[in-house]
Amino acid sequence: MQIKTTSLGLAQENLELPLAYLMPPRPSRPELKVELESFREFGQPTRSLATQFQGPHGDKTVPTFVNEFWTARQCAAHSLHEVSYRACFKPQLPRFFIERLTQPEDIVYDPFMGRGTTLLEASLLGRVPFGCDINPLSAVLTQGRLRPPFLTDVATRLQEIDFGSSKEFPEELLTFYHPETLRQIVALKEYLVGRRESRNCDPVDD
Ligand SMILES: C[S@@+](CC[C@H](N)C(=O)[O-])C[C@H]1O[C@@H](n2cnc3c(N)ncnc32)[C@H](O)[C@@H]1O
Repeated sequence: MQIKTTSLGLAQENLELPLAYLMPPRPSRPELKVELESFREFGQPTRSLATQFQGPHGDKTVPTFVNEFWTARQCAAHSLHEVSYRACFKPQLPRFFIERLTQPEDIVYDPFMGRGTTLLEASLLGRVPFGCDINPLSAVLTQGRLRPPFLTDVATRLQEIDFGSSKEFPEELLTFYHPETLRQIVALKEYLVGRRESRNCDPVDD
């Protein structure tokens, strides 16, 4: 906050906050290239190579670093990740780059978010998750895990749903479900569709 003095000698507050206040200085990290070259977390040194390719303006070379950067601890991720999706990342992969290329409160955007591995890791690391995907299932899988409800709230909600009032009964699914289970699943589906249509979905529904 700046204090100015008026022509009458009175102190006048300028309420516009300087940018330095809004964006505190970021802790410095070594350049990504330097960090990759010196990485030895799992015992092996990094191999530094040069990959050549033909670009529109002739031959190019990009530095390439080979090591075990994230696979060794892939079982140690947060249990919230445990949703199956085709070709999903191991959480350590986005974590590796989020930790090195962003700071807390930065936006992390994944335009092909799938089950939301990158968004969830970004959120767990205090970043702001942004994402999209052409598959509507992706948002369904991701949204609920970004705002996980308490188990007691889920139990209360389940008691509020009328499981005896389902309108449809898809008999072809009796191969997979006991009739009573099928009735409950359909009632739950009808409840959720109703909530979505009336735009009433909350984190418990998600
Ligand atoms: C390999 S998956 C990504 C998995 C994600 N990294 C994860 O960990 O769950 C690729 C995703 O890209 C989405 N996708 C493919 N083409 C797309 C497009 N043109 N626009 C948006 N999303 C697209 C697919 O629906 C799929 O979810």
